Order: sequence, then C-alpha cells, then structure tokens
Amino acid sequence: MENDVYSLITGANGEVGHGLVKKIGNSKKIIGLGLTDLDEDLKPFVSVYIKGDITDQKLISEIFTKYKIDTVFHLAAVLSTTGEKVPKLAHDVNVNGTFNLLNMANDQARSQKRVIKLIFPSSIAVYGMPNLETKKQHPKVKEGEFLNPITMYGINKLYCENLGVYFSSHFSQLAIHNHYLDFRCLRFPGLISAETVPSGGTSDYAPEMLHAAAQGKSYSCFVREDSTIHFMAMPDAVDALLLLTNVPKNKLSQNIYNVRGFSASAKQIEEIVKKHFPNADISYRINPERQKIIDSWTEDVDGSKAIDDWGWKAKFDFNKAFEEYLIPAIKIKYTNNS
Ligand code: SER
Repeated sequence: MENDVYSLITGANGEVGHGLVKKIGNSKKIIGLGLTDLDEDLKPFVSVYIKGDITDQKLISEIFTKYKIDTVFHLAAVLSTTGEKVPKLAHDVNVNGTFNLLNMANDQARSQKRVIKLIFPSSIAVYGMPNLETKKQHPKVKEGEFLNPITMYGINKLYCENLGVYFSSHFSQLAIHNHYLDFRCLRFPGLISAETVPSGGTSDYAPEMLHAAAQGKSYSCFVREDSTIHFMAMPDAVDALLLLTNVPKNKLSQNIYNVRGFSASAKQIEEIVKKHFPNADISYRINPERQKIIDSWTEDVDGSKAIDDWGWKAKFDFNKAFEEYLIPAIKIKYTNNS
C-alpha cells in the first residue's frame, strides 16, 4: 500500500533475523531481504519478502523507490570464519553491501525530506588484542580501544561503522529541517540462540556445543578450554537492537555502542552444558586459525555508554541465559523435532 511505512530487514532469514522478525512482525510492516527462501515460521510476520543480494545495487534502489522505509536493520553479513576462507566475498557483502544501503538510505532521506534510521549490528571482531597477556590485563574494553581487527570480517565491520558515522554526520550537518540518515550501531558479542545455530562465525563453538549436547551428538570444540570471550543470549540481542532503535536521538552521545551480555570461557560453557546434559560428549581439538581469532577478541567489554545513554541492561547473565532461556527452550526444540 502506498502509505504504508516499512522496516527493511536484510538477512531476515538469518540468526538475528529470526528473533527480530518474530518480535516486531506483529506491530511493524516488514520487508525482508535474504539470499534463501524465507523460513515457513517467519512468513506470517513478513509483508514482503525479496530473495536477493544486498550487493545488487539495482535491487536496493528498486526497494527504496517502491516502498517507504523508515528503518533499516542491516543484519546480512559474512561472518568471521567464512570471511577468512573467502575474503573477497566477505568484502563484497560486508562492505559493498553496506555501502549500497547507506548510500541509498541517505539519498532517500534527503530527497523525501525525512529521517531514515539505519541500525547496524557490528561486532567484537572490531577489536584486536595483541596477545593473551594484554587480553587478560584489559578485560573491559571501551569503544575506542584496541581497534586492531585481525579478520576480514572485523576490518569490514570497523570500516562500515566509520562509513555510517560519515554518512550520518556529514550529511546531517548539510540537512535542512533534520532530514537525514540516522545511523545507530551496536557491537554484538558472540550470540547464542536456542532456535538456530549460526554458520561461519568463530564464536560458534558455544552454540554448537549446546545444540550438539541437546541432540545427543558428540562435539569437538575448536578452541582451548580457557578461551574466554563475551557472549549474549539472542533475546537480549533483539531487545538491544530495538532499544537503540527507539531511543530519542538527543539521548545518544555517540553512534557506536558496546552492549554487554556475559563473559565465559569454553570450559564454563562445557560445564553448564554437562550439568543439564550429563551424557554430553565434549572434547577439544584446536583449530589454530580459529583459536587465533578468539584470542584476539576481548574477554568482555565496557558497556557503560549504552547504560548511561539508553539504559541498556541484559536480562540474561551467564547462569540465567543457560538455565532460564537456552536449556529449557532447546529441550523443547529437540523434543518436538525428534
Ligand atoms: N559471531 C561473530 C563471529 O563469530 C562475531 O561477531 O564471526
């Protein structure tokens, strides 16, 4: 309908997409964009689904011309492990795809004289700790610290954060009557969902361990048991996206925010998984490339800016995430599926 206003969700069929689409699909009109057919369970929540590629400039232009979009959730990305295998593809999708969206959303905001919000999930992969000793000494890293990513994915995300700030600040200064692209970004840690298993990431050992145990499958973890990074339960990730989307602009003192979930080692995850699935068969077989990536990511982050500016607080700490969300939901999932 001509007067309808839509949220565009790229990567709608992906991990975060699943959570976000279901959460807002009853109250907002959604245009989903993705490479694969939309999963059946998401169909009731999506008004328009377009099977296509964010690197397709013509397609992005057609979407913005045809529909009035007030918010873009740009979730599509090639994650860190896949990015190391196919760096050119990662760059094309993560950088060129993001540029297309920023550029198009910015043009539309200016020509249609309105604000368009672009919400960009960045990642802890933008950080690069030089060695384990420094990682131990600096567990809670602030947004501006240790920005030395070692993966293609991390480099892409960091550059696109900067691109977003550029589009947002450069053109908002030129804008008359506040018509501009409102770029808002949060840096997610490794996400763990009871519903889906990620693919191509490096923090994937945590969800893989859990989902394997719930299905009675053996799992060989590809990082050392002392490997510690920062994680978040999927419902918190979706809530963080929406809270940041809806906060009045005058509350935001910056464009890019760390959001805290909980810090955990692979061993701690193994222990809590085994507490609930005592027969879980978990071993360790280190993949040196993936280990190097995890060692370069911070143990935790300083999330105080998101707390001060928009009142972010994760509902799930480590214990709650497993005991009150992941384990119960995953038991239901695999019981129903078996
Ligand atoms: N989960 C992502 C990855 O492992 C990091 O943000 O690539």
